[in-house]
Amino acid sequence: MGEIELPEALVKALREVRSVGVITGAGISAESGIPTYRGRGGIYDDPDEGDRTVEALSAHTLESDPDRTWRALFQIAGAAANARPNAGHLAITAIERKAARFVLLTQNVDGLHRLAGTQNIIDIHGDAFHVICTACGNRNQFNDPRTGGITSLCLNMHECMAANVAPRCPCGGVYRPDVVLFGEMLPEDKLARLYAELLDNPPDLVISVGTSAMFPYIVQPVLVAAAAGKLTIEINPEATEISDFVAFHLRTNAGEALPMIAAAMAGTEEGKG
Ligand code: APR
Repeated sequence: MGEIELPEALVKALREVRSVGVITGAGISAESGIPTYRGRGGIYDDPDEGDRTVEALSAHTLESDPDRTWRALFQIAGAAANARPNAGHLAITAIERKAARFVLLTQNVDGLHRLAGTQNIIDIHGDAFHVICTACGNRNQFNDPRTGGITSLCLNMHECMAANVAPRCPCGGVYRPDVVLFGEMLPEDKLARLYAELLDNPPDLVISVGTSAMFPYIVQPVLVAAAAGKLTIEINPEATEISDFVAFHLRTNAGEALPMIAAAMAGTEEGKG
């Protein structure tokens, strides 16, 4: 991908931005080596494989055959466990530090935004490193090989992956991943934050990065911002449902465009608002 230049009109508009909302999907982690679900090279690219993965990651499969759900999850968590934040993740943290008001809405469960130091995160689909016992409700987490420190309190991800079966709580119950599976509702508290910080009070700038924009709760914040005359940007090498509604569609990689956007934004003298 050749070096892109931000359009002059965009650079000028970015200087006036004080509040920012960023929406991310699997595409922002592609440059960290984690496969996307859709688009070129995505997990669902092979329709049969894709259907099997969606089936495995469904609530009814967790109920009937938890080992199968966990085998699919260990594929995703395994790829995440070897991944590090890339320039795109780090640029979002830099944007947060420059903005007077900031919120990140992510669909990703790989924990890379947290590792990159971003603070105000709505991880609407949860986090693959956290688990809840389906019998007693005990919450636990996998040690995160990316931050080292296997503590006795954590589950050892590599041991669980080697066993390739659903991890179990000391009470004997099966742990479920703290992620939203297909067929499950989104967590009410996170939806409430999405409404409050993105829909009821759209930021000056909304950036959609690396998402195929499949879900209404991901599309809505961009459409609401555009309708309110806010600045909207999509960063995706491919076109999506929202490409015709944003002010600027940067058809390039997240790791290339986000650092340029961060650089073009003025820091806020008054600091965090
Ligand atoms: N930079 C920016 N975008 C990229 C890059 C990149 N380097 N590489 C790929 N993309 C784009 C692809 O063109 C695609 O449009 O990222 C998008 C990834 O789309 P999906 O794989 O559908 O991921 P996402 O939008 O996050 O999926 C939403 O669907 O399967 C469920 O729960 C799962 O959270 C996931 C949700």
